[in-house]
Amino acid sequence: MEPTTEFRYPVQWIDRWTLEPGQNVTVRPVLPQDAALQHDFFTHQMGKHSRYQRFMISMRELPCSTVQYFTRIDYHDHFALIAETFDDQGHRQVGDARFVRESGQPATAEFALAVADAWQGRSIGRRLLQALASAAQAQGVRMLFGDVLRDNLPMLGLARASGFAVRRHPDDARLLRVSRALQLPLPLPPANDAAWSAPAPRERACAL
Ligand SMILES: CC(C)(COP(=O)(O)OP(=O)(O)OC[C@H]1O[C@@H](n2cnc3c(N)ncnc32)[C@H](O)[C@@H]1OP(=O)(O)O)[C@@H](O)C(=O)NCCC(=O)NCCS
Repeated sequence: MEPTTEFRYPVQWIDRWTLEPGQNVTVRPVLPQDAALQHDFFTHQMGKHSRYQRFMISMRELPCSTVQYFTRIDYHDHFALIAETFDDQGHRQVGDARFVRESGQPATAEFALAVADAWQGRSIGRRLLQALASAAQAQGVRMLFGDVLRDNLPMLGLARASGFAVRRHPDDARLLRVSRALQLPLPLPPANDAAWSAPAPRERACAL
């Protein structure tokens, strides 16, 4: 029997990007049915070094228990977007971005990001992080943070370029902590209220 999700699938975070003419990437929240795609992504589409930068431990392949944890999510405490492509070489996952709320601190969430080796340097990481931050902000996360190995210059560069502050990690000298405050989303204008006017640009909720 096909695995199913017992939570409402958040279709509003489905998107499609054109990286260059003829090359499209679809971004969508992960599903339980994506287990094989996720295993292939973390095991084969990411090289050893990238996997180490992502998980901070050496692993040859993504364990089944982690595949299950990564694909059976509630879209609230644990939210994940995958980027996928369909071309003449088939259907592949090329990116993964997720956040998990801190236990007891639901307005704070830790994120992690990964892009397939062959697809790095093409703005997928930047766009995935932006989409993830928008989803987090819309769901009430006010502080998004990530722990990054000190030598992970691509991730530190991406975090800085995306408005994250980079600080020392509170407990681990191997790491730096990147964090960004997400403001409250603006309330929607009341229907048919002529008196409502759009706020000045600097007052708009940050969309990262
Ligand atoms: C970090 C990672 C997600 C970046 O993804 P990406 O798709 O290659 O990044 P992008 O192409 O979107 O780059 C966006 C910005 O990041 C920064 N960046 C990317 N690669 C960089 C590099 N090698 N050195 C310095 N900065 C870099 C730049 O600011 C870049 O903007 P620019 O292209 O305008 O210069 C990717 O390298 C990766 O998956 N690494 C392995 C896993 C990992 O380290 N995850 C982070 C743990 S949370």
